[in-house]
This record gives sequence, structure tokens and C-alpha cells, in this order.
Amino acid sequence: EVLHTIWPGEFVDSPEFRATRIHPRQPFQVMGFEVDTINSVQFSNHTGNCRAVLGSARRVPDSTIAANTRAKGATEPCYKHWRGHVLKSDELCELYEGLRLNGITDYDYVLTGYTADRSFLERLVGIIKDLKQGNPQMVYVCDPVLGDTWDGKGSMYVPEDLLPVYRDLVLPMADVITPNQFEAELLTGRTFSTQSEAIEVMECLHARGPHTVLITSADVDGARKNDRLVVFGSRNQPGRRRERIRMEMPRISAVFVGTGDLFAAMLLAWLHRHPHDFKLACEKAVSAIQHVLHRTFHCARELAGHEKPNSAELELRMIQSKKDIEDPQVTLHASSL
Ligand code: ATP
Ligand code: MG
Ligand code: NA
Ligand code: MG
Repeated sequence: EVLHTIWPGEFVDSPEFRATRIHPRQPFQVMGFEVDTINSVQFSNHTGNCRAVLGSARRVPDSTIAANTRAKGATEPCYKHWRGHVLKSDELCELYEGLRLNGITDYDYVLTGYTADRSFLERLVGIIKDLKQGNPQMVYVCDPVLGDTWDGKGSMYVPEDLLPVYRDLVLPMADVITPNQFEAELLTGRTFSTQSEAIEVMECLHARGPHTVLITSADVDGARKNDRLVVFGSRNQPGRRRERIRMEMPRISAVFVGTGDLFAAMLLAWLHRHPHDFKLACEKAVSAIQHVLHRTFHCARELAGHEKPNSAELELRMIQSKKDIEDPQVTLHASSL
């Protein structure tokens, strides 16, 4: 199965432990997790990148993509078409009923990602509540996919009515969240541009529920200007010493699709493996991603020759990165804050 044909909103279950849903199912399986997947959408290809090229939202109807691509004369076109299906909220409940009837809902983790529909997200909330009632130890990892920043300007690529559901219903149930900067700002209603403001925003997020917060990419203290990208992490778990970390890395000059999904998956896996070493878990998760992205960029440039790599050439090299995913060399170190 190809990574990009599966979008998030899934359940996972592992022999090493029981878990639910991951979008990038492959990295979990490579790491020995057994995963149950519910595809919230099943598409022929990803619909990303258009935003970078066109400045428009991703996951727009393919007629719009094609029209915009022509209109703006993009030299680095996204996939111009897509076909496929979105899972309806009733269909989600039907699948969950099947799991329940068979008594196979004792997951250790649930991971959710991209959702474009309010009623689907509300049903998901109900399911997670139910799962947590059955197993209070279950850890819910939420990637609150809402939007991103392009050329310094944030925009949402899901309907706006999802924001209050994430903020008021999802966050209180989430144990771990992985927003990018724009999403963290939306969820708290506070913008930030310095490290100390970022820390305050993470505090606000803790206050709303999750004990572990990762801001997966941020532009603080002029990082973006210097083509750098900053990751912040904060863990505030009862009975444990409070920890905050910062990682900084060069920004690779390409727009990848699926990095947010990969981040959430790698983080879950490495937090599981290193429950008592938050810093190391973050270092391994981010280093693994960097190995995948550098390999992807290198391969894409070879394929593209003198042209700019296109979406197909920039598909994440997951299979080729199997060893880096299983056992990432820590090439990026975190500093404690
Ligand atoms: P998505 O758009 O897939 O939902 P996101 O905005 O949630 O992504 P990001 O924060 O953009 O997620 O990316 C996640 C991680 O991927 C970052 O922490 C970083 O390690 C890596 N990454 C993404 N893009 C780049 C890049 N251009 N250069 C270097 N690293 C990158
Ligand atoms: Mg991003
Ligand atoms: Na993210
Ligand atoms: Mg994301």
C-alpha cells in the first residue's frame, strides 16, 4: 500500500502493545506495532502541494486545481486530478460497531489525523470517549489538522466549524497533540513569534488537556528568514518532572506532503519506546523524519534533473528509509528549556 493513498483518522493495535489508528501505517508496522486502520478518505493520490504552488487550500476539487494550475502557470504542478471517497460519519460508526461486537477495542493508542467534516469529528470524539471508558490507560494522540502557514500567512484547509470541536471537545480528551505553529495559535487564540511566547502557548494547550504538546514547526526569532525551522516540545505529566525541549534544523527547499502525519506516527512510536526519556524520544522522531526527507529530496533532485522536482518525484521515500525508521541515528539534538 502506498502511503499517500491513505489519509489519517485511523486506529492501531500492536503485539508490543495495543493501539489504534495511524495514517502512515507503514512506519508503525516496520517498528513492530500491529495497526488497525480506518481510512477517513481513500484517494488515488494526495491533493497537497497545490497550496504552495497556487496559494490556495489543499484538498480542493480537482476542477479547481486544474483551473488554478493553468491560471497561475505553475512550473511545479501538483497532481492535477484526484478520485476517491470520503468515509461518512455513519460508516465510521458502523466499523466501530463491528470492532465492539467482536470485543476487539482494547487499544493501547489511538491516533487521529485529517478530518474534513464536523459530524465525522464529533463521532470520533464519541468513539474515543467510549474507548477510554473501556481502557482508562489508552493514550490518545491527536494531530489537530487545521491548516498551515504559507509565505508567512496562515490559512485553514478544513472547514472553520471544526476549530471549536477540536478546541472544546477533542483537546480535553487528547493526551498528546502535534499542531504546527498556525494550528497551535488557532487552538489557543494566541499568536507567537518568540521562544518565550511559544512556551506560553504550550502552557495554554496543557491547560486545555494534553500532557504532551509538540509544535511540529515554528518560525520564532526570525528562524524562517534564515531558512531554519524550530520544533518545540513540552511534557507536563503528573508525577513526572516537567520537561521542555527545542530542536532547530535547516529547512530543506522543497514542499513535502505527509510530514505532519509522519511526525505524529514517529512521535507516538518513540514515546512508547522511551517513556522515561522525552528528549530522546523527540530526537529520534525528528531525526527519523529528517533522514526520510533528505533521502526524498536527494532522489527527487536526481529524477528532476535541471527542473524543479514535482509532486510525484517528492513522494516520501518510506520503503527506502526502512532502516532509518527502525533505528534512526540521532543526527539532530534537542536542547532542554
Ligand atoms: P502537514 O502539512 O503534513 O500537516 P504539518 O504542518 O503538520 O504538516 P510540519 O510541522 O510542517 O507538519 O512538518 C513536520 C516535520 O517535518 C517538521 O518537524 C520537520 O521535521 C519536517 N519538515 C517538514 N518540512 C520540512 C522542510 N522543508 N525541511 C526540513 N524539515 C521539514
Ligand atoms: Mg507544515
Ligand atoms: Na503537525
Ligand atoms: Mg499537519
